[in-house]
Amino acid sequence: MTYSNIIVETHDKVGLITLNRPDALNALSAQLIAEVDDALTKFQADKNIGCIVITGSKKAFAAGADIKEMQNKTYPESYLENFISAWETVAECRKPIIAAVAGFALGGGNELAMMCDFIIAGDNAKFGQPEIRLGVMPGAGGTQRLTRAIGKAKAMEMCLTGRMMDAEEAERSGLVSRIVPADNLLEDALKTAATIASMSLPIAMMTKESVNRSFETTLTEGIKFERRVFHAMFATADQKEGMSAFVEKRTPEFKNK
Ligand code: CAA
Repeated sequence: MTYSNIIVETHDKVGLITLNRPDALNALSAQLIAEVDDALTKFQADKNIGCIVITGSKKAFAAGADIKEMQNKTYPESYLENFISAWETVAECRKPIIAAVAGFALGGGNELAMMCDFIIAGDNAKFGQPEIRLGVMPGAGGTQRLTRAIGKAKAMEMCLTGRMMDAEEAERSGLVSRIVPADNLLEDALKTAATIASMSLPIAMMTKESVNRSFETTLTEGIKFERRVFHAMFATADQKEGMSAFVEKRTPEFKNK
C-alpha cells in the first residue's frame, strides 16, 4: 500500500507512524485509518519491531473522525460497513503502542490515543470528546475508555459539554502517563519505546495482555490470569537470561524466546 496520509519509519526496533494530513488537522478519514491498519499489521508481523509509536504534528495529534466524510452518511450505510470497526486494529495490536500527543486530540483523535497502551502528552496537548456539539456522541470507544481512564464525573462532563482538558488536567486525571515539552515529545516517546523494545518481546506482549485483562474481568479472575501467565514465563529462555544477568551483574541479552 502507498501511504498518502501517514509517514512510516523504523528507528532500530521501534516502528513510528506519523499521522500526516496537515490541511485537515489529521482528521481520521477512512483512507487514513486503512493506512494506519496496514502499517500496524506490518509492524505486528515484523520480528525486529518491539514497540510502536503513533504521533501527529505539533498542532494536532488528530482533530477527530473526518466530519466532511461523515456528514452525509446514512444509518444503513454506517451499519452495513460497520463504520469505525476498522479502527479496532489499533486496539487489537498485540505489540505495545505509545501515543505521543501534541496539540489537539479530539473526538476520534482522543479515542485513537486511548486505544494505544499509554499516552505521553506534549505540554500543549488538548484532549476532548466534542462530538455532542456535532449532534452525535463518541463512536470509537470514547464513552467507555475515557470513563475507565478518568472516572465517571470527568468523562461525563467532557462528553456532555464537549469541553477540552489541557495536559496538566489530563495527567492529574490519569489520562496520560507523563507530560513533556512539546518540542521534546517525539524524542522522548521514541526513547521510551526503545526501552520497551529492549525487553523480551513475548514478555512485553504478555504483560500488555495481562494489564488489558484487568479492564475485561473481575479481580479474582484477573489475578488468576496473571498468575498463570507469570508461571508460564518460567518456560522462557528470556526469564533465565534476565535473572542470570541480574545475578551476574551484567546487561541481559533477550532473544525473544
Ligand atoms: N474533520 C474534517 N476536517 C477537519 C476536522 C475534522 N474532524 N477538524 C478540522 N478539520 C479541518 C477544518 O475543516 C479546516 O479545513 P478548511 O481549512 O478546509 O476549512 C482545517 O481542518 C483547519 O481547521 P480549523 O480552521 O477549524 O482550525 P482551528 O485551529 O481554527 O480549530 C479545532 C481547531 C478546534 C480542532 C477545530 O478544527 C475543530 O473543532 N475541529 C473539529 C473537532 C471535532 O469536532 N472532532 C470530533 C469529530 S467527530 C468524531 O470524532 C466521532 C467519533 O467519535 C469517531
